[in-house]
Amino acid sequence: MSDDIDGAESAGAGRVTAADAEGQTPADRGAWNSRFGFIMAAVGSAVGLGNMWRFPYLTAEHGGAAFVILYVGMLVLLGIPIMLAEFALGRGTGLSSIGAFKRSGGKRWVPFGYLFVVTGITILAFYSVIAGWVSRYAIAAIFSGFPSDPSAHFGSMASGLPAMGFHLAFMAMVIVIVMGGVEKGIERASVLMMPLLFVLIAGLAVWAATLSGSGAGYSFYLAPNVSELLNPSTIAAAAGQAFFSLSLGMGALLTFASYLSRDSSLPREGGTIATADFGVAFLAGLVIFPVIFAFGLQDAVGESTVGALFIALPEGFASLGVAGRVVGAVFFIALLIAAVTSAISLLEVVVSALIDEWDVQRKPASIGAGIFVALVGLWPAADTNALGVMDAVTGNIFLPLGALGLALYVGWVYKNPIDEVAMGAAPGVRRWLKGWLWLLRFLAPVLLVAILAMGIGGVREAIAELIGG
Ligand code: TRP
Repeated sequence: MSDDIDGAESAGAGRVTAADAEGQTPADRGAWNSRFGFIMAAVGSAVGLGNMWRFPYLTAEHGGAAFVILYVGMLVLLGIPIMLAEFALGRGTGLSSIGAFKRSGGKRWVPFGYLFVVTGITILAFYSVIAGWVSRYAIAAIFSGFPSDPSAHFGSMASGLPAMGFHLAFMAMVIVIVMGGVEKGIERASVLMMPLLFVLIAGLAVWAATLSGSGAGYSFYLAPNVSELLNPSTIAAAAGQAFFSLSLGMGALLTFASYLSRDSSLPREGGTIATADFGVAFLAGLVIFPVIFAFGLQDAVGESTVGALFIALPEGFASLGVAGRVVGAVFFIALLIAAVTSAISLLEVVVSALIDEWDVQRKPASIGAGIFVALVGLWPAADTNALGVMDAVTGNIFLPLGALGLALYVGWVYKNPIDEVAMGAAPGVRRWLKGWLWLLRFLAPVLLVAILAMGIGGVREAIAELIGG
């Protein structure tokens, strides 16, 4: 890029020095081995607790199929456009979040890069605590069965020393994978785990269809309540879920795209990733709704954010004896896989910033950042109200704000975004990209500001609970 950008110079110069010192080429920063590997890693980031818990829970809360329809609309109008913005910035600059703004001439936008790192640390700190609960349920299903009183059991294991222990163990696993690097760590883990996850979820959906009484679940899930289609809070919830589920708004996919070559088609990969992400969310609905309705557990779903996953489902599984244990174990193992591959992308945002901006080697960067996140996570592991605050602040404020920054920066400031996205794509794609830019410039900011405005109430509530409890 041009010489008048001093931020770019120092970032670029720093990288070259580090590479020279070891006799490496800049390519040793890391790169995907295959197109499939990149897609699996990105899908791995996208598919997580958001698909298997947040999506069904929001669908239940917002009137079933109407929410699903709005969600698909938001994936196309908001999710994919912002994903392409992250891809363009990451691949175009070849740097992770902080450096990407600097190198492309957006010095004043660098605070967004720092926001992304802070968001990654905060989300991972509590995400890992929830993943710790998931590991604990998976282990229980295999070795001892589900507890007879899941609600009391959940209350006793959600916080305190055991929760801390499982959280630390989960973080250790994430650190080891990220330490392995882009190709040998992240790509390899994703290529192994994601296809397995698809098979497990599809198998569970088939099993759920055999339950007697599942019909009511399908009709709730698949028959739209048309009046919800125009409800602003349903629309905002669908928009928020679209970018949370696609891992947007904190540079995770930006960072993954920085390891991508120029001949890959960004629109094609983006479409594949969004389709796979929606596919898993939709399948998760085909597992959860039949189970919930077959066992008459409707009330537990919309009632609390963790109720469906850690209380209602185990209750259903427990009532099925041995078969329930097997299915329950499969379910929680699938959930754990989804959580690991998402957690990897969260840590990678922090690690890649240390590598690109501060010339830290990957190993110490992974260990240092990982231990730091693990320590921060001790707080939400000790207090579920703290977890609620971290969830609300990141989900309602940091991510929409980050997505807003990305939409505005790539839409209005970044040079030649259309050329960057068109590079490597089929020639016919170019004519659609004007529409893409329009969505980034106008529609996405309006929607994101609306989401931010509506999200502030949620943060207040969470803080009130933390202080009051
Ligand atoms: N998308 C993941 C999920 O659905 C969560 C996640 C991982 C995420 N990385 C992210 C969300 C980055 C926002 C930003 O569970």
